[in-house]
Amino acid sequence: MSDDDLHDDAPDLPGARAVIPLSGLTRGRVSVARPTAWWYAVATSDELGATSIGRTLMNMPLVLFRDERGRPAALLDRCPHRNVPLSGGPVRSGQIECAYHGWRFSGDGRCRHIPSLKGDCEGRARNAPSFATRELDGFIWVYATPDVEPTREPYRFALATTPGYTSVRQVVEAPGTLFSTVENALDVPHTAFLHRGLFRAESRGITITAVVRRRADRVEAEYLGEPRPPGLVAKLLSPSGGMVTHFDRFVLPSVAEVEYRIGDENHILIASAMTPVSDFVTKVFSLVSFKLRVPAAVVKPVLTPLALQIFQQDAVILRKQTETIARFGGEQFASTEIDVLGRHIWRLLRSAERGEVGAGDAVLEEHRVELVV
Ligand code: FES
Ligand SMILES: [Fe+2]
Repeated sequence: MSDDDLHDDAPDLPGARAVIPLSGLTRGRVSVARPTAWWYAVATSDELGATSIGRTLMNMPLVLFRDERGRPAALLDRCPHRNVPLSGGPVRSGQIECAYHGWRFSGDGRCRHIPSLKGDCEGRARNAPSFATRELDGFIWVYATPDVEPTREPYRFALATTPGYTSVRQVVEAPGTLFSTVENALDVPHTAFLHRGLFRAESRGITITAVVRRRADRVEAEYLGEPRPPGLVAKLLSPSGGMVTHFDRFVLPSVAEVEYRIGDENHILIASAMTPVSDFVTKVFSLVSFKLRVPAAVVKPVLTPLALQIFQQDAVILRKQTETIARFGGEQFASTEIDVLGRHIWRLLRSAERGEVGAGDAVLEEHRVELVV
């Protein structure tokens, strides 16, 4: 395909889509996809205690609380009575209570109590739309369509509980679209440049091959012939060197996985579940799982600030990218073959948005690309 039509099917940006920084600048195209029939991480388990909290998912305000059995519940954060937000209201016996007139709602959104009302309080218009939830691997997931029973389950963090692995949780917010944030997390060419010295160093002129494989709900790039990078992170991961196995993966609707094995003893998987808070703000729920020759107690205090520093550099660029797209009233992307995953990520997002994702694990497309690193 020609590179110019990379985002040919990006939707025009009508006013309604421009929620955060784009108001008033609504011409042109922008790669905003909203796959709503999918699960997204919205909070960590620790964040949801005895009180209710507010979260936003694809511009939808949500209130989260724990029901009478301690399971997370998610309702639209708007009291059906007079449109007051429910978040921040007290939770009584597993029901959220509106701060205005005290209507109470159970985890399924049904109105259960109206103070001063004689008789039954139930009635469909008095219910709040409710969203399916799951609590897995220390994260709370919400299905982005209300009042439906999902037919698929959320993504699982593969190494979260695997013996021998240490996992570090991190939640950050990126000032970019879901597409840009995912592409950034899986984009190799910027690492030697933007993160110079930290992650990869300047090019050493070594040609490596990326094998790109697309399946119905995912795309991965496997990098062959990659030497151990000379950057600080790699030195820390594997002081002795060794063969590098490196995969970058995008899994619908919003997970970026970066997986490295260096030698036999070192394995690291950075899995980031991205959540579109709004069209131009993406929250990143990451679990970094590793098994290294260097003890975890040594690695952890170094790795965490380093990862945050790398993320900071990405966040600055994403913000500039978002602001520039806003300033120009839309985007224009020119790509080369070493932008290996971008167009696949975008097509998968669009197919998810349209409900056109097929089933099965078969490789639907495979090609090789050479890069100089
Ligand atoms: S607005 Fe919520 S109870 Fe009246
Ligand atoms: Fe980066």
